[in-house]
Parts: sequence; structure tokens; C-alpha cells
Amino acid sequence: MKQPPVELDQLRSIVGAANVLEGGDAAPLLTDWRNKFHGEAIAVVRPGSADEVAQVVQWCATHDVVVVTQGGNTGLSGGSVPVDTRTALVLSLTRMNQIESVDAEGWTMTVQAGVTIEAMQDAAAAAGRLFAPDWGARGTATIGGAIATDAGGNNVVRYGNLRDQVMGLEAVLADGQVWNGLRALRKDSSGYDLKQLFVGSEGTLGVITRAVVKLHPATPHERSAFAALTDLDSLMALFAMARDTVGEALLAFELVPEVGVQKVCDTFDLVHPMANRSEFYVLCKLASGRPVDDDLTNFLTSAAEAGLITDAIVASTAEQESRLWKIREELPPTGLYEHQALGLKMDTAVPIERMGEYHDAVRAIAAEVVPGALAYGFGHVGDGNLHMMVLPVTDDQVEPFLERRDELIARIDAATFDLDGTLSAEHGVGRDLRTRVEPQKSPIEWELMRTIKRALDPDGRFNPGVLLPSE
Ligand code: FAD
Ligand code: MLT
Ligand code: ZN
Repeated sequence: MKQPPVELDQLRSIVGAANVLEGGDAAPLLTDWRNKFHGEAIAVVRPGSADEVAQVVQWCATHDVVVVTQGGNTGLSGGSVPVDTRTALVLSLTRMNQIESVDAEGWTMTVQAGVTIEAMQDAAAAAGRLFAPDWGARGTATIGGAIATDAGGNNVVRYGNLRDQVMGLEAVLADGQVWNGLRALRKDSSGYDLKQLFVGSEGTLGVITRAVVKLHPATPHERSAFAALTDLDSLMALFAMARDTVGEALLAFELVPEVGVQKVCDTFDLVHPMANRSEFYVLCKLASGRPVDDDLTNFLTSAAEAGLITDAIVASTAEQESRLWKIREELPPTGLYEHQALGLKMDTAVPIERMGEYHDAVRAIAAEVVPGALAYGFGHVGDGNLHMMVLPVTDDQVEPFLERRDELIARIDAATFDLDGTLSAEHGVGRDLRTRVEPQKSPIEWELMRTIKRALDPDGRFNPGVLLPSE
């Protein structure tokens, strides 16, 4: 939608002229990470404090402009850019990047919303503590965006997702009030947990401006192993064995398919980590305050004896460790395959014991609907969360794939719902899944969500077109 001219001087006086971006300066922030959504806005505005956010939101209310809040713009569901909405303004919080305090004794950290995940990890480490969330976009993704999407990543097996890390929040509401819920209480049964409403709200209820998060004990002893699965049926038995043998020290448990490893190694000129190939591998990581090597060896030995794995390597140097994780983090093949942008990538979670069933169902559907297309899954199987890909790989597959793409999506989604799963485990609904997700919840549940939306944002000021299916 073409954005009408609006006088921006008042905005400049709120945040400073240098922080109201237009034209070419604004353009990079109007396209999402995957280059899938391209928006238009009257400006990208970069406030420096909650008070400035509040004034900008009030300005937007006066001028009937909608607010699309943006952090690092690494979101994978299209929620961070304005598309086809009313006249829009992008509120980029990356200037609000102050770590306000690290309380090592209280095991908390208080930050502004634009601080990156990596900066928080580093600040916690400097204080002898751990900020647990971690994933490939750590250097760019912000805590505000992570909370707004209820992000997950590689450590959820041990620490849970963002929802489990948040103790308190500050947010700017639709009428420009600043709600200060920056509490650092481990227990508080004094009523509705309002902060949790903002977790996973994807910018639709307000602007998160500050947060108090949990810190955990540091884990100086860490070790990763890469194990060749005997077959996919062994996956969940291997996970159960890992939990039984290494317990709390199990930090990550990720599925890595051979087809993906091959592609990443070819693309980045890396040596394949395994001498004995298998169709699937598991990349797992142990982390603890105590040495983990014996536990890891016991686990791998028991798994081999039980016939669950056919081979395994343990990373013995930091270089090997980072190479294994590079292979894992390069698996989402945004640029690996020529026709990737036409394909599907799912962010599904199913009850954990049904992981294998879900994987096989998607493969069977793909083989039937788009024969020859590449179909494989990777990711956080220890959380019941699999990123399944289905994409055309040769030029002659493209047309038949596009012809049957909608049918493919409908059948895969139906299979997910049949397994009592969710279409969005960690990336959020955004614009991508907004229509597809509707059958996942009952009309009562959607109506409860709409009631909350109407109560907090009666004019639909925040991120219209994101998350909630249209009425
Ligand atoms: P943005 O992309 O800027 O915004 C995302 C959503 O949050 C939008 O709806 C936006 O409006 C809203 N939002 C942003 N900031 C605020 C705020 N302050 N207040 C209110 N709403 C706000 N995600 C995972 O969960 N697990 C992974 O393993 C993972 N791996 C990734 C790997 C790569 C290479 C990339 C590019 C992305 C990955 N992601 C992953 C997705 C992404 O990093 C997360 O969704 C992250 O939480 C987004 O943070 P952001 O600051 O970039 O948010
Ligand atoms: C991942 O697990 O690598 C992320 O969620 C990114 C992605 O799926 O694209
Ligand atoms: Zn993921």
C-alpha cells in the first residue's frame, strides 16, 4: 500500500532527526530476513527510551498510523515488517541496547529491549553466570523480539524457551502509558500474569521496552557429540537414553540429516565429520559445572550397545566443536538450494513421542503430491520440534511443485493437527501462518485471544495482519 505523506517534524523532535529514517535509509528495515515480505512505511523511527516510545505511540494514535515494532529483524514468520496495512510506521528498538544491570547474587539481568542475545550471553558470562537462550541469529536477534516470538533455539531441552526466562517486563501500551512490570520475583501469585501475555504476542499488544530475565549457573564443562543413528525409529529411544544417562547435563539434542550435512559441507568447503555415513545423525551437547566426559562416553557406549547408533565422534577441540555446530546452524538452507524460496519450511512441534510419525507423514505426503521434491527434517527433536523442508531441487520440478503447493500445505497441516501438533513451535505465527493456524485452536480459544487484543489494543494500532486470523 502506498503510504500517504505525513508531516514528520514532531517525530524528529521526539527521537532526534537522525533517528527518523526515510527512503533508502529505511529500505533495509522494510524487508524481512528471508526477503519474502516487502513493506512500506512513512518512516522507520528509532527511539532511545521507553518515554520516547510512548511519545511515538501517542503520535501514531493522533495521526491514525499503525505501529510495527522491530528488533533485529531476524524473525522467520514475517511479523517485523509492515505489509498491506493501514499507514504504518516501523518502530526499531535497536538503539535501546543498554544492559542496565547484571545481578549475579540475585541471578537476574535487567536490559533494554534492543540488546542482542549475544550481548546478554557475554554480560552474563563476565559475571560468572549463564544467560541460556541461544540460536544462530544470536548476534542480531534482540531480547524484545525473542520475548515477542517466545523464541526457542538449541538449549530448550535444558532451560525451556523464552517464556521460562522472563521474570518481569516493561511495555508501552496502545494509549501511550508505560506499564512497569519489571519485577524480579521467583514467586508471585498475586493475580493474572500480565507479562506472559506479551510473551509470544508478536508486537500485537504493545511495545516491550525493558525486561528482567533469569540467569543460571555457568557451565564451564561442555562437550558435543555427533552420532550416526541406526534409523529414525531409534531417535526417541536415543533421546530417552540420553535423559536417563546424563540427566540435567543434556543441553541440546538436535536431528541432523545426511542430505543437509552433505550440502553444507559442499557449500562451505568443510570436511564431513563422519567416516561412516548414515541417513540421520544426532548432534547433542552436554554442559555442566562438573566434568561431563564420562557421562558422554557412557551414554554413547550404551547407545551403541543397544543398537541405537552405528558410530559417534566426540568433539575434542574447540575447533571441532564449532565446526559441528556450524554444520547444524547452516542447515536452514536459505541460500543452499536454488529453489529454496519456493519450497516449504515448517516449524512444527508435536508431542515428543510422535516425532517419527510426523517426519514419516510429511515425507509420505511429499512423495505423493510432489514426487521427486526433496523432503527432510532437522532441528530441535529433543523439544518435539522439527523443521521439515519440502522443496523442488531441479528446474523441471518447479512448475509441478507450484501447481500443487497449496494442496501440499493443506495436507501437511492436516497431518500436524491430527498429531495434536502446532504449526509454530518457536518462530511465531506472523503473517506466514496467520490463516493456516486457524484450525489449530477452537473458536472459543481464538475469541479469548481477540478479547485480550481488543482490551489492550482497541484501535488495532499494533501490528495488524499478524498472528490473529482475520475475523
Ligand atoms: P524481529 O524479527 O525484529 O521481530 C519479530 C517479531 O517480534 C515481530 O512480530 C515484531 O513486531 C515483534 N517484536 C520485536 N521486538 C519487539 C518488542 N520490543 N516489543 C514487541 N514486539 C516486538 N528462532 C528460534 O526460536 N529458534 C531458532 O533456533 C532460531 N534460529 C534462527 C537462525 C537464524 C539464522 C535466523 C535468521 C533466525 C532464527 N530464529 C530462530 C528466528 C529469530 O531469530 C527469532 O524469532 C528472534 O526471536 C527474533 O528476534 P528479533 O529481535 O530479530 O525480532
Ligand atoms: C533453526 O533451528 O536453525 C532455526 O529455527 C532457523 C530455521 O529454522 O530457519
Ligand atoms: Zn529452530
